[in-house]
Amino acid sequence: MEYRGTTALVTGASGGIGAALAEQLAARGAHLVLVARSTERLTALAEQLRAEHGVRTEVVSTDLTAPGAAEALRTELDRRGVRIDLLVNNAGMASAGRFAEIPASRTRTELALDVCALVDLTHAFLPDMVRRGSGGVLNVASTAAFQPAPYMAVYAAAKSFVLSFSRALWAEYRSAGIRVTVVCPGPVRTGFAVRLGTPQPEIGQLRTPAQVARAALDGYRRGRHTVVPGAANGLMQGIRFLPTRLVLAIGRRTLGRVLGTAHSPELTPA
Ligand SMILES: NC(=O)c1ccc[n+]([C@@H]2O[C@H](COP(=O)([O-])OP(=O)(O)OC[C@H]3O[C@@H](n4cnc5c(N)ncnc54)[C@H](OP(=O)(O)O)[C@@H]3O)[C@@H](O)[C@H]2O)c1
Repeated sequence: MEYRGTTALVTGASGGIGAALAEQLAARGAHLVLVARSTERLTALAEQLRAEHGVRTEVVSTDLTAPGAAEALRTELDRRGVRIDLLVNNAGMASAGRFAEIPASRTRTELALDVCALVDLTHAFLPDMVRRGSGGVLNVASTAAFQPAPYMAVYAAAKSFVLSFSRALWAEYRSAGIRVTVVCPGPVRTGFAVRLGTPQPEIGQLRTPAQVARAALDGYRRGRHTVVPGAANGLMQGIRFLPTRLVLAIGRRTLGRVLGTAHSPELTPA
C-alpha cells in the first residue's frame, strides 16, 4: 500500500501528533484534509505542506464534540468534491484527578471527542471505502488502553474502547481490502499535558510526535492492527497478564504521584 496520490483526513492536525502525522503523510505524497478548531494553525500548516510537498490541502475548522459534527464534515467534503482514502482519528483529550472532583461537563466533552466523534467519523467515511474495496482508518489510542488508569479513569476507559473497536474493525474488514490500525503511544511531548492541567505523566518511554507518526504510518502500511511506538512501551502490554489487584496498585501508586491531586480545569474554547 502506498500513500502517494491518496487523500488522508487527519483530525487534531493543528498540533502535536496530528501535525506530525500530516507532515509525514504529505512527505509520502498524500493529499490532506486538516481538521481541528484552530483555523489559523491549520491554515499555516496547510500552506507549508502544499509548498514543501506539492500536495493538495483542505482545511476544515470544526469542534468535533458538537452534535452532528462528523456528518457536517462529510457533507462539506462532498460539496468540495473531496474523497477520503484514509481517516486518521487523532484528536483527543484527557482529564486527570479523582473522578468525583472532575467537572461532569469536562468528562462529557472528553467522551464526546475520544469516543463519539471517532465512531461518528468512522460511520461517515468507512461505508464508501467498503463499497470501493480500498482505504482505511488509523485510530490514535494510548498505552493507557491496555489497563485501567486510576486518576485518569475515563481517559483509559475511552482509549480501551478505541483499542477494542479498532481491532474488531480490523478483523471485520481485512478481507474486504480495508485496513484498520490503532496506534497506542506512551508519553509524547506535545501540548497534551498542558490541556490536561498537570505535569507530563512520564510513565513509559517518552517519544517525539515524529517518532509516533512514523511508527503509525509504517504499521498502517504493513496492515498491522496495533502499533505501540517504542520497544519499552510495547512491553507494557504484558501488564495485562498480572493479577488485576497488582495492576491497580501499580497504577494507583505511579499515577497517583503525578495526578492524584490534579484538577483538570473546565474547558475553555480553543
Ligand atoms: N501526548 C501524549 O502523551 C499522548 C499519549 C498517548 C496518546 N495520545 C493521544 O494522541 C492524540 C493526539 O494527542 P496530542 O498529544 O497530539 O495532543 P494535543 O497536542 O493536545 O493535540 C490535540 C489535537 O486535538 C485537537 N482537538 C482538541 N479538541 C478538539 C475538538 N473539540 N474538536 C476538534 N479538534 C480538537 C486539537 O486542536 P484544536 O485545539 O485546534 O481543536 C489538537 O490538534 C490524542 O488522541 C491523545 O489522546 C497522546
